[in-house]
Amino acid sequence: MEPAGVYERIHQFSNRADPYRLYTELRDTPVARQEDGSYVVSTYREIVALLHDPRVSSDRRNLAEPAHADQDALPSAFIGLDPPEHDRLRRLTMRHFGPPHSPGKVDAMRAELLEIITGLIDGVAGRARADLVDDIAYPFPVTVICRLLGVPREDEPRFHRWAEEIVETIGPGEGDRDERARRRQAAVLELGRYLGELAEAHRRDPGDDVLSGLVTDQGPDGPMSGTEVITTSALLLIAGHETTVNLIANGMLTLLRDPPLLERLRREPDLVVHTVEELLRCEPPVHFLPQRVALDDIAIAGVTIPKGASIVLALASGSRDPAHVHDPDRFDPDRPYIQHLGFGGGVHHCFGAPLARLEAQIALRELARRLVNPRLVTDPPPYRPSSTLRGPRHLDIEYDDVI
Ligand code: HEM
Repeated sequence: MEPAGVYERIHQFSNRADPYRLYTELRDTPVARQEDGSYVVSTYREIVALLHDPRVSSDRRNLAEPAHADQDALPSAFIGLDPPEHDRLRRLTMRHFGPPHSPGKVDAMRAELLEIITGLIDGVAGRARADLVDDIAYPFPVTVICRLLGVPREDEPRFHRWAEEIVETIGPGEGDRDERARRRQAAVLELGRYLGELAEAHRRDPGDDVLSGLVTDQGPDGPMSGTEVITTSALLLIAGHETTVNLIANGMLTLLRDPPLLERLRREPDLVVHTVEELLRCEPPVHFLPQRVALDDIAIAGVTIPKGASIVLALASGSRDPAHVHDPDRFDPDRPYIQHLGFGGGVHHCFGAPLARLEAQIALRELARRLVNPRLVTDPPPYRPSSTLRGPRHLDIEYDDVI
């Protein structure tokens, strides 16, 4: 049997705890053609160029050979569309997160975020052991996105499974491709049906939440269709669900491995802002954008990506490119200049970045302040299956007290 190529090895589960030495190898060929005809791009400059290139589409229908497994049971949300459709739906959604250039909904939630995290940390007081994923990092952003959207928190166990199924089938994984696609379709359909019913209830009886806004807004360019409301709210629910958990968990893992840094954060809480930025560079939740397509022949780094080819942007590799950042594998929140690809870039730059940043800053600051002498129980921790959205499945710690 041929030895697996470097990109293939990155996706093997045994490399989940440390994919970074493989990214170093990957960057030897900045634009690497894979056996299946896709192109993996791993260096900072090339990724940024393609994120901003209008000849690069996010719509899989532009693939030269659209695979059956790529066709979803519902149309794409705006993350999988190109301008002008993408822009129309993103603008309509943005209106319900507060007008541009004003503090908006996210800033108004600051006190609420603190109240939620305080309750979760209180919940592990009186114990000597906790799982930072199940007890804190997961319930925190889920509670927040449910409140923002107007999704009843008690329904969470129902859509948790669908969301995990959808996320685990983004990008390559282990197991049969068609079987993974079937599981994904089933989850997309069930989540769609659930959100369709919920949207109907909000249309009849609107509240002060984003879903009510989406169903009632007539918008400057006309209202969203019923299907667009479903795909947009599913996107927000999943994105608000399955990414911030990894940022908080990766963050606590990094801090627990470096007790002097954790102690410094306790003494200098303002350090949390740069700590979160350095985490987005060094230990980001999103490692790959696997969904881009070339709309034309694109010459880059000595290679021509042919029209219709699939392009994978290796964001986590780009953020550790030594041509972009000095001593890239060192975690250093004191860097004078932290520029990363953690939230992507260009027209699809993460819509939830202000919320995700605020959540991670508040969670890490409060955990550092309140946990007395926390220690990791298992290092490395067990990881989630996905190599694309990467983070620990559990993060067990022991501690002396909670203040
Ligand atoms: C897009 C990362 C949290 C909503 C993206 C993209 C990345 C990303 C890399 C670009 C996708 C692409 O170009 O194809 C993250 C990370 C998060 C996070 C690392 C947490 C630490 C959130 C939250 C929300 C959210 C909390 C919801 C409020 C979105 C949406 C898009 C997006 C709607 C699509 C934007 C578009 O296509 O215009 N995110 N995200 N994200 N994110 Fe996030």
